[in-house]
Amino acid sequence: MVNKMSIKDVIIIDLPKILDERGNLSFIEEENHIPFKIERIYWIYDVPGGQVRGGHAFKEQQELIVALSGSFDVLVDDGKVQKTFSLNRSYYGLFVPAGFWREMQNFSTNSLAMVLSSTHYDADDYIHSYREFLTYNKNYDK
Ligand code: TYD
Repeated sequence: MVNKMSIKDVIIIDLPKILDERGNLSFIEEENHIPFKIERIYWIYDVPGGQVRGGHAFKEQQELIVALSGSFDVLVDDGKVQKTFSLNRSYYGLFVPAGFWREMQNFSTNSLAMVLSSTHYDADDYIHSYREFLTYNKNYDK
């Protein structure tokens, strides 16, 4: 049986912050603060109130989600347990391993969501339906 990750493996990483009277600074180094090599960075912005983004799972992609500005919630689901993480500081990164359903919601005005991804964009890596995700999970556990 493959040792599949559980919701406990989804963690908020406290990124370094250099406090300075001139303004604060944070940074991320691949394979140092996050356990994967960064192949892609994308960001989500100008989200109208009430909209939900990212309702899907990835088979391979690992990611780190950062609220660079403003705030939003990330709902993560391992097929059994759901957990909601509120991101509201630019020095918090939510690490989501592959194989989790996740949705981003409750975006504040002018929020900016940055996603560091372990893979290039690949439409085939997406699981778009929750039902399909549950089946995928079940087969994975065999
Ligand atoms: P998608 O990941 O489906 O966003 P959401 O789940 O929030 O709706 O991406 C939306 C569109 O953008 C989709 O047509 C694919 C495209 N896209 C890229 O071309 N490259 C990327 O890196 C990403 C993340 C999306």
